[in-house]
Amino acid sequence: MAKVVVVTSGKGGVGKTTTTAALGAAIAEMGQNVCVVDFDVGLRNLDLVMGAERRVVYDLINVVQGDAKLAQALIRDKRVETLHLLPASQTRDKDNLTQEGVGRLMDELHERFDWVVCDSPAGIERGATLAMRHADIAVVVTNPEVSSVRDSDRIIGLLDAKTARAERGERIEKHLLLTRYDAVRAERGDMLKVDDVLEILSIPLLGIVPESMDVLRASNLGTPVTMADNTSAPARAYRDAARRLLGEQVAMTVPGDRRSLFGRIFSRRAA
Ligand SMILES: Nc1ncnc2c1ncn2[C@@H]1O[C@H](COP(=O)(O)OP(=O)(O)O)[C@@H](O)[C@H]1O
Ligand SMILES: [Mg+2]
Repeated sequence: MAKVVVVTSGKGGVGKTTTTAALGAAIAEMGQNVCVVDFDVGLRNLDLVMGAERRVVYDLINVVQGDAKLAQALIRDKRVETLHLLPASQTRDKDNLTQEGVGRLMDELHERFDWVVCDSPAGIERGATLAMRHADIAVVVTNPEVSSVRDSDRIIGLLDAKTARAERGERIEKHLLLTRYDAVRAERGDMLKVDDVLEILSIPLLGIVPESMDVLRASNLGTPVTMADNTSAPARAYRDAARRLLGEQVAMTVPGDRRSLFGRIFSRRAA
């Protein structure tokens, strides 16, 4: 049975799609059978970042509506054979995504994979709540700026109210992924510091991904950043985050700062 992860944020352009591809690829490279699902109907970005845009035949809506079987729509990655993509549609109306149809699809994905990673659209409307509905785990992608933190706070509220787990009275596991972090700008006060963000959102930290040109470079090549240059700083940060999701204890470092945050984070969690 799969663990279902939703990558969510409220705000657009913070790095959800980048994160979905990177975490999905990193988990698949650890030998787990992974499906990344693009819920951002109308934009269809994940297939580009995964380098699969020319291989899209059927999409999420086709499967939800019963026009295609899941197996026909899944695209297997050419680099890592345990990685699969269920693409979104660029042209169809997102109202075609019904809650029942999505529920049936999620049941099927649950059976077939070890991990299902759902890329959420921006906003707090129907698309975002459909994407989070069946999640066991949420990765809340946040940039170190006030507007992003505020939107993440609203999303955390939705996760605790609008998910199937919440409605059953169960807990949904929530993790904070701080992305596009720039230590120099944080030090200058142009951006929030890690501690400031943790103070406001108070959910456990999954990782800190630095602002890096390597992300854009990888995306232009159609390669998840963890696969493009596996020694790059964002690749390492995403791989560490993936290992933490799988339950490993990996020391937390702030990119551009050599002091380990691990002790401090740990004492916060214990407190
Ligand atoms: N860590 C990062 N460093 C630099 N650019 C990034 C980083 N993460 C994302 N980006 C860029 O920000 C833009 C938005 O990212 P994307 O993943 O599409 O966000 P979202 O899915 O939340 O809208 C893209 O151009 C992407 O390449
Ligand atoms: Mg996106």
